[in-house]
Amino acid sequence: MRGYRVAVAGATGAVGREIIKTLAERDFPVADIAALASGRSVGQQLSFGEKRVLTVQSLDAFDFAGWDIGLFSPGAAVSAIHAPRAAEAGCIVIDNTSQFRMEPDVPLVVPEVNPQALARYTRRGIIANPNCSTIQMVLALKPLHDRYGCKRVVVSTYQSVSGAGREGMDELFKNSKAIFVNDPVKPEIFTKNIAFNVIPHIDNFMDDGSTKEEWKMAVETRKILSPDIAVFATCVRVPVFIGHAESITAEFERPVNVGEARDLLRNAPGIVVVDGRDDGGYITPVDCQGEDATYVSRLRRDPTVPNGLGFWCVSDNLRKGAALNAVQIAESLVAQGLLTQAA
Ligand SMILES: NC(=O)c1ccc[n+]([C@@H]2O[C@H](COP(=O)([O-])OP(=O)(O)OC[C@H]3O[C@@H](n4cnc5c(N)ncnc54)[C@H](OP(=O)(O)O)[C@@H]3O)[C@@H](O)[C@H]2O)c1
Repeated sequence: MRGYRVAVAGATGAVGREIIKTLAERDFPVADIAALASGRSVGQQLSFGEKRVLTVQSLDAFDFAGWDIGLFSPGAAVSAIHAPRAAEAGCIVIDNTSQFRMEPDVPLVVPEVNPQALARYTRRGIIANPNCSTIQMVLALKPLHDRYGCKRVVVSTYQSVSGAGREGMDELFKNSKAIFVNDPVKPEIFTKNIAFNVIPHIDNFMDDGSTKEEWKMAVETRKILSPDIAVFATCVRVPVFIGHAESITAEFERPVNVGEARDLLRNAPGIVVVDGRDDGGYITPVDCQGEDATYVSRLRRDPTVPNGLGFWCVSDNLRKGAALNAVQIAESLVAQGLLTQAA
């Protein structure tokens, strides 16, 4: 079969499993596929589409020579070791971790927003997938920025536990169950009990009092969309299994017409506007699970600043926030003729 040889590193994780599913669903031209994880998972079996079963191999022992694309999500420390090794062997790496995102010679790409940046991948052989919270925000800001010139964004996130991987999902389940049966609740992955609670703390604290997750949203938005946009983020973990929501208020250079902004968003790739202004006329994280689109609801003028617009933005963090964006990057490489090693 004509196609590409694709290695998925972190294949047994929340993102890796979604990557394998997305490759099959979108009919990406796969000639051969390898599922890679830690020694703990070697021999485990994963389905690829309806007919194929993949046996998990060790990332440590895998030779990337002859493989075209590496879709990586094994965590930042593991990508730091194995992504350059894969790239040196001629396998183009699309990395979901935070390890390479801010390196100047590594493109940070959302295909609907800055596909032109892909051409610069050749020096390192690595392309970075942005943070899940950044992806959905820049996707929604892009058509508005192009028309009105975005100056400043204030965003509060409501991030699901799957953003912390399989173990985050297990902890929400365990803690919820413990509360129902009156057992003691013990936080392990999260810093406080996540069941029936919200936690204003994702990733480590930095010197200025922000968390690393909040810093990522600011610096990644500037790298992808425009170096002149100021971003103030507050990132919060909520007891939802899948789907991140964001309350976004943006300030623009030029006057904003809400009706026109709604039309711009309706016509933007990857965005669906659901803005009913009545009971249920908006999208919630549970509604977006398993969906490719990023949803915009509650669109309204912010009267507290000259050219302000507020809206609610929801997306499946495992799909557009990770797996789908990575596979779309691979599709863009093919479409732009940047991936030439078809088997
Ligand atoms: N979840 C999200 O919404 C999201 C979105 C964007 C980016 N990301 C990033 O993607 C990465 C993975 O996230 P996740 O949610 O999929 O985590 P996860 O569910 O915990 O999965 C981690 C994966 O990495 C593998 N792994 C861990 N240590 C390894 C090692 N030493 N060698 C080889 N493989 C190793 C695991 O394999 P085993 O099964 O063998 O342990 C598993 O396949 C993280 O860097 C995360 O920040 C996540």
